Amino acid sequence: MSLQFSRIIGTGSYLPPTVVSNDELAARLAKDGIETSDEWIVSRTGIRQRHLVADGVQTSDLATAAAQRALAAANKTPHDTALLIVATSTPDFIFPSTACTVQAKLGNQGAAAFDVQAVCSGFVYALTTADSFVRAGRARCALVIGAEVFSRILDWRDRGTCVLFGDGAGAVVLEASEQPGIQAAQLHADGSLTNILCVPGNVAHGQVTGDPFLRMDGQAVFKQAVSVLEKSARETVAQAGLTIDQIDWLIPHQANLRILSFLAKKLGCSMDKVVVTVDQHANTSAASVPLALDLAYRDGRIKPGHEVLMQGVGGGFTWGSVVARM
Ligand code: ACO
Repeated sequence: MSLQFSRIIGTGSYLPPTVVSNDELAARLAKDGIETSDEWIVSRTGIRQRHLVADGVQTSDLATAAAQRALAAANKTPHDTALLIVATSTPDFIFPSTACTVQAKLGNQGAAAFDVQAVCSGFVYALTTADSFVRAGRARCALVIGAEVFSRILDWRDRGTCVLFGDGAGAVVLEASEQPGIQAAQLHADGSLTNILCVPGNVAHGQVTGDPFLRMDGQAVFKQAVSVLEKSARETVAQAGLTIDQIDWLIPHQANLRILSFLAKKLGCSMDKVVVTVDQHANTSAASVPLALDLAYRDGRIKPGHEVLMQGVGGGFTWGSVVARM
């Protein structure tokens, strides 16, 4: 029996319990003399609220909870997995990788474990990597997680960025299969655009050097995101031997409702086919796509056999798409 594909056999997610509405955030920022409003945030981004972690909660905690739910949905134990990839830009430590910490918390010592750093494209990068491992016969079953505590790298004095992000995690279990599965995947980067979205700081000689907060040229990111997502969607769907009309669900990275609407319009796709979570979760970077996938799978919108197009875009500049039959 040849197992030439990998297939998503379980999804899971976790959001920290503290929900902060735009009004609550505006009231907090006002104490520091920073003005914003629910009206501004909703009209420019579609975001209404975000989940934020409590002090002491780490990316690995969110990732572990999401992974446990995905494993339960797949009817697998941690010991069934031979590969664990965590996509994150907010790791617990410089090293070891967050994947190693998650592995210790799950208790599946021995499985390969590493992080992928592709910012908001991280989950699509990690899923494509895991798919390659599974199809090459290097792992029969893999855990792929996107997890972030972006609230830790936000400059809460910069209203242009701090209102946009939230914390959370999503995960999938992939398994070798005779049937697709992941049908097509495409990854890209343009390193000449590092400056439009970055955290330009590092730790050296015991000190933080540079600027340890997220910085963004919002309009440049907007233009870049819409253009690369459309091209990548068309190419990856064609690579899967499908047309855009045959895609049941579009799950783009949840950065901004305006980006999602623009993309849907350019692709000629109804917003009814786009899974939207940015209103509830804000932008959770590498966690946004698996969080949206899990939500729509569990509420019954995504059904077995549906064709799902997942897309990441973000810092690097990076982008990519995966077409998966559920
Ligand atoms: N509340 C009130 N006013 C604000 C806020 C805020 N939170 N933030 C900015 N403003 C003000 C600015 O100070 C500026 O005021 P001024 O005209 O008096 O100088 C005005 O609003 C316009 O500011 P811009 O930055 O030009 O706002 P813009 O219309 O570009 O909207 C936004 C900003 C929403 C970020 C937009 O550029 C955008 O959608 N960009 C896409 C990028 C994105 O979504 N990034 C998320 C992360 S990236 C990713 O995940 C791929």
